[in-house]
Amino acid sequence: PHKIIFDTDPGVDDVVALLLLLASPEISLEAITVTFGNSTLEHTFNNVLKVYGLVQQHISEHPNDLKRFPNYARSGQPTILAKGRAGPIAGELHLAEYFHGPDGLSDITNTHPHFSAPESHPALAVATSESYKVILDILDREPTGTVTILAAGPLTNIALALREQPKTVMKARRIVAMGGALDAPGNTSPVAEFNFYADPYAAQEVIQFPDLPFFLLPLDITVPHSVAFPILIPAYHDTSPNHTPLQNFITAILTRPRNVMRMLGEGDAFQLHDPLAAWFVIKHADIPGTTLAPGWEVRRRKFRMERVGELTKGMCVVDRRGTQEAFGSIRAENGIEEAVALAKVTNREDDEGVM
Ligand code: BDR
Ligand code: CA
Repeated sequence: PHKIIFDTDPGVDDVVALLLLLASPEISLEAITVTFGNSTLEHTFNNVLKVYGLVQQHISEHPNDLKRFPNYARSGQPTILAKGRAGPIAGELHLAEYFHGPDGLSDITNTHPHFSAPESHPALAVATSESYKVILDILDREPTGTVTILAAGPLTNIALALREQPKTVMKARRIVAMGGALDAPGNTSPVAEFNFYADPYAAQEVIQFPDLPFFLLPLDITVPHSVAFPILIPAYHDTSPNHTPLQNFITAILTRPRNVMRMLGEGDAFQLHDPLAAWFVIKHADIPGTTLAPGWEVRRRKFRMERVGELTKGMCVVDRRGTQEAFGSIRAENGIEEAVALAKVTNREDDEGVM
């Protein structure tokens, strides 16, 4: 199985992605490096522990399901759990609690207190060093091209790792990140996607890094394809007494995003941002080199991050000008930035009635 570091800010869809990773024999989940993001660092870190506590509870009631979670039951090789920064490398702290709830998981801390975070868990080894150092340690000790980083939150930890030891980060097989909106509208502002909005400085440092094996899954992919709830959870009923702990947990954490989506007029639907990125890494882990899966179109896109801005913080400013060189020289000659627009040339003398 391919080695994965999951950099995450759980977050409802991060939790769905984590459950997918725990259930996937194709990969080996080496570390979960937590960052602030959907909620505070304290909550996002605790939420990982909650997931492990929940899986433990589920398996104690359904022992046969243990084999369904190969990355949970990693015999003798606990997954490293590390804590990252409590905020972006620059700029103001912005969380997504309006969507994910005050604890990042639909407020289950209050509504379902029995889904509590254990102090520790045998399947997890809590690191004493920060997330980005754990990323560097793993990349350092493993052969080049064997570890994939799946980044499902703000890119803070990845940027810090790059600042500290760029050559070590270059050893990664791939860095697959969910973030940004290239042609799609934003979800945090009219023009910005949440992960990039939350730390646009980190995003810029990562995307501008030369030759980094960086793959982005932007909002453009997930927003037009929201998944309807009845498809996602066929057995969804709010109050079924027959649900397993895992079903109850998923039902509970989905409450808030589900309500928000309904309020936004999107129907009973959910956008699978982070689970899609996880699926991508799981299913295409075996493909050697930089060749990606058949059926996927990978395009090189040129953009820069708007890091500050009255209205545009976190926007991916995509350069769509095909003729930029020509216009560049005209501008240079005139010494002014000119808007180019189609204009009707009118001969005033022929234009009766116009004074
Ligand atoms: C991204 O932002 C977060 O709210 C989600 O977890 C996902 O990573 C989508 O914009
Ligand atoms: Ca996320």
